[in-house]
Amino acid sequence: MAEGKFITLEGLDGSGLTTQAGLLYDWVRGKIPFQVTKEPTPGAVGSLIRRALQGEVALDEETIALLFAADRLDHLTQEIEPWLKQGINVLCDRYRLSSYAYQSVDLPGEWVRTINSRARRPDLTIVLQVSPAVCVERMSRSRPGVERYETEARLSKVWANYEKIIPTLQADGEKIHILDGERGIEEVQSDLRQLVGPLLGLV
Ligand code: TMP
Repeated sequence: MAEGKFITLEGLDGSGLTTQAGLLYDWVRGKIPFQVTKEPTPGAVGSLIRRALQGEVALDEETIALLFAADRLDHLTQEIEPWLKQGINVLCDRYRLSSYAYQSVDLPGEWVRTINSRARRPDLTIVLQVSPAVCVERMSRSRPGVERYETEARLSKVWANYEKIIPTLQADGEKIHILDGERGIEEVQSDLRQLVGPLLGLV
């Protein structure tokens, strides 16, 4: 049986990842086997990460980077890889590029890539580009509290990392597309469908 395709969605907090992943799921489900999942996961390691992001437990950046990498490995071995082997296509809302962009703000990028080296390469990554100012403004309207990485200054550094790392990965043969995520939800979704459709045999 052919393996499923592995697609990842990336961008800053407030860039609309979860909204777009949900709409894509609505479009694909029932047509082909398809799972949507996210990182950090709701599992044991992911729940600890979430508590650290919300300031409930104090963890340093290196520990958090290792937890993200551990959560990812657990996610891969328990869910993503078994699904792909069964021919189920997977869309993951955030993956290793999030670690490269967010954790490399405080830590050496090479070390962050090393601890994530076991994480398989996605077949396609789509990055929603939304300016940090727009992300912060959107979040102030839709979310109650502010998490660890959700300030404009921090998100600007994270976006600079995305911009630095993406060409390096592309030069290494990884398929990554950047979409303008500041447009209306429907327009962004339409572009997303055009990008993933051919890979999934849907267009
Ligand atoms: P979420 O808001 O998309 O659920 O993501 C939670 C936060 O975790 C968000 O600020 C991005 C951050 N994050 C990292 O810093 N590194 C990672 O590897 C992942 C997956 C998320």
